[in-house]
Amino acid sequence: RAAPVVLGIESSCDETGAGLVRDGRLLGHAVASSMDEHARFGGVVPEIAARAHVHALRPVVRRALGEAGLRMADIGAVAVTTGPGLSGALQVGLAGAKGLAYALGVPLYGVHHLAGHVAADTLAHGPLPNPCVVLIVSGGHTSLLLVRDLARDRIVHLGDTLDDAAGECFDKVARVFGLPYPGGPAIDRAARVGDPRAVPFPRPLTGPRDDPYGFSFSGLKTAAARWAERHQGRALPVADGAAALQEAVADVLTRKAVAACTAHGVGTLVVVGGVAANSRVRALAEERCAAAGIALRVPPLKLCTDNGAMIAAIGDLLVRAGAEPAPLDVSIDPSAPL
Ligand code: KG4
Ligand code: ZN
Repeated sequence: RAAPVVLGIESSCDETGAGLVRDGRLLGHAVASSMDEHARFGGVVPEIAARAHVHALRPVVRRALGEAGLRMADIGAVAVTTGPGLSGALQVGLAGAKGLAYALGVPLYGVHHLAGHVAADTLAHGPLPNPCVVLIVSGGHTSLLLVRDLARDRIVHLGDTLDDAAGECFDKVARVFGLPYPGGPAIDRAARVGDPRAVPFPRPLTGPRDDPYGFSFSGLKTAAARWAERHQGRALPVADGAAALQEAVADVLTRKAVAACTAHGVGTLVVVGGVAANSRVRALAEERCAAAGIALRVPPLKLCTDNGAMIAAIGDLLVRAGAEPAPLDVSIDPSAPL
């Protein structure tokens, strides 16, 4: 039997996404963002995000269908993010997904946002090799996983951040440096003309006695703030600070990810999440994987940040693996564990 068209709906934070995937292939997707509405607050305001999803959900589903040249009746299954994320925001997506699944008489799948980030890569590069090591780096997560089979939930959790996520570190330091929100892309841009050796920022948790797969970024944030304070009254060399911070983050992330591959005898590293869009993270991962004989997979930029295609992609994998659909009374799980 032919695989169904899976509609994926994402609404865990400030992006409303809809994507359509069949049999591992992306047919169409659309994203709306409320980022501009949050900018003057310096971070995502949950109530504003939830309201924006209410307005954006139907239009993004229609745009995705339009791009794919499909009609509502062609949808054969609906997948939706149930967590982790902001509760009000998640509620909007789940309510919409339930309504659609019920009206169309198709199965509903509640999916984990991070599994979606991992699945995004399959849309660009085909099925994931089993096993592979996955580095998830976003505004809310920094995790290293040993993935044996994504669709069957055979995932070994190797390590996490003890405090801030890597993206959160970029976002907070950008604020201190006077760069616009969201900070990650702003730091990336500023760093282009900076000297990464200008400031000797620490490389947290890289000592011989430290957890090899643990991360910590709050110390880096403090170090960056101290460095900025020392320039009181003088112009801050933002490009140098940004380049040095980016170098420290990219160094720690890629060093540990490659070490995880080597220690577990795994030949493929997959880097996903918003911070996978960072130019230095991508370049250093490429360099170090090549040196270690490891194949590197990083999704294209538009599939790295939150979107509906990645949710459709994990939904499609679940459908094809014969996973059990969710009941129509399934709830959100805002702090869903990995
Ligand atoms: O995956 P994502 O879109 O949302 C979450 O699930 O968190 O990731 C957003 C994070 C933000 O912290 C943002 O600053 C960061 O990804 N980010 C970047 C870049 N693009 C986005 N960080 C560094 N460099 C970038 N180019
Ligand atoms: Zn995300």
